[in-house]
Amino acid sequence: MNGHTMTLLSRLLAISVSTVCLFGAAQAETRLLTADAMLNVETGEVATGVGVLIEDGKVVSVGPLAAMSVPQGTETIDLRGYTIMPGMIDMHVHLMGNTDNHGYAALGVSSHSDTIYGVVNAETTLMAGYTTVRNVGAGAYSDVALRDAIAEGAVPGPRMFVAGPAIGITGGHCSDNNLLPAEYEAVGDGVADGPWAVRTKVRQNIKFGADLIKTCSTGGVLSKGTKVGAPQYTLEELEALVDEAHSHGLKVASHAHGAEGIYNALMAGVDTIEHSSFIDDKGIALARENGAYLSMDIYVTEYILGEGEAAGILEESLAKERMVGHVQRTNFTKAHEAGVKMVFGTDAGVYPHGQNARQLSRMVRFGMTPLEALQATTINAADALGKSDTIGSIQPGYFADIIAVKGNPLEDVSLLEDVGFVMKEGVIYKPAE
Ligand code: ARG
Repeated sequence: MNGHTMTLLSRLLAISVSTVCLFGAAQAETRLLTADAMLNVETGEVATGVGVLIEDGKVVSVGPLAAMSVPQGTETIDLRGYTIMPGMIDMHVHLMGNTDNHGYAALGVSSHSDTIYGVVNAETTLMAGYTTVRNVGAGAYSDVALRDAIAEGAVPGPRMFVAGPAIGITGGHCSDNNLLPAEYEAVGDGVADGPWAVRTKVRQNIKFGADLIKTCSTGGVLSKGTKVGAPQYTLEELEALVDEAHSHGLKVASHAHGAEGIYNALMAGVDTIEHSSFIDDKGIALARENGAYLSMDIYVTEYILGEGEAAGILEESLAKERMVGHVQRTNFTKAHEAGVKMVFGTDAGVYPHGQNARQLSRMVRFGMTPLEALQATTINAADALGKSDTIGSIQPGYFADIIAVKGNPLEDVSLLEDVGFVMKEGVIYKPAE
């Protein structure tokens, strides 16, 4: 064997070794996970003396250790001092981009740069205990690429459900860029006006790999020149969008702050309303009737009003946030009391990734029990994704997405801000100390 062959061989070996170590590679061997306690997010029961048997990335059995039949030689991971629960799900994130870039600072950044930061943000999010996220809008289908790279095991990150470019009106909150003057002729990836143009955009997003459709039925806080109270899209356009998406089996998420845009989205049949800030009794009744979920990002206001100015958020956006943040929290309480279904969605990306769980304690402060807040980020989110049969719960046949915290999260939900162990599909990304 000459020197050249040797080098080639060792290179090939190195490649095959690194392939084996790829992050997503499901572990074929059987493992037993034990901990001090396990929180059942369906019932709120905290059981001791239980184990979870895992094989090929999936839960095989779960229950009292004494009654469990464990194959001989099974490796045991003993999380002493920890409580385990299902991996969390954030239904409203924007993983792409550097979160330091707000307002005009975001203009000089390429989608390539956004994607590279997306890779970093994905890992941060996973390490914080989020094993699944819904990424609600990204340019250039960079979210599709990141989702696939994570699924293929090339980079670590949460399981992603992605929207591709958000679809909206000319000059709209989620579709367009209003920062540049007319001579630049800048038009966002997702701009479409009129029912047929909207259908074309939906078809295009499906063609290029979207898992869901994101639209905007009102203006927003962080977009220049849009009004949070003003509807975006007519009912006719929204109906076309939802019909097209649903006929292909995709769910629809609509950004909506103002009451009228919330009605329009609900009447058109969207599956989740994002933000829902000015939802009123009529909107609450419609959401209940339709079984639509609200995803209310009630933490982010603290970041925008506290650190937004230094971060470059436009003054007009800060002014809008002063109108929205407080009302949104009041309406969160009201909608929850009225029995509207809720999921956990944060808008992480506006603020640093990995801090998602800060919102849980706010959801409790504004009316939920700790268990309800944890259900919003597990079983409810899984249901809203249409994935109740594989994620959100620790059950036989489900993905082994399991996290652990020190203590009982039902006594202090902010324990989830410091997740000490993360497993996704049976692979340990963050080992317990
Ligand atoms: N992306 C949203 C928007 O620009 C953020 C809203 C944040 N404010 C709030 N209170 N949730 O409209």
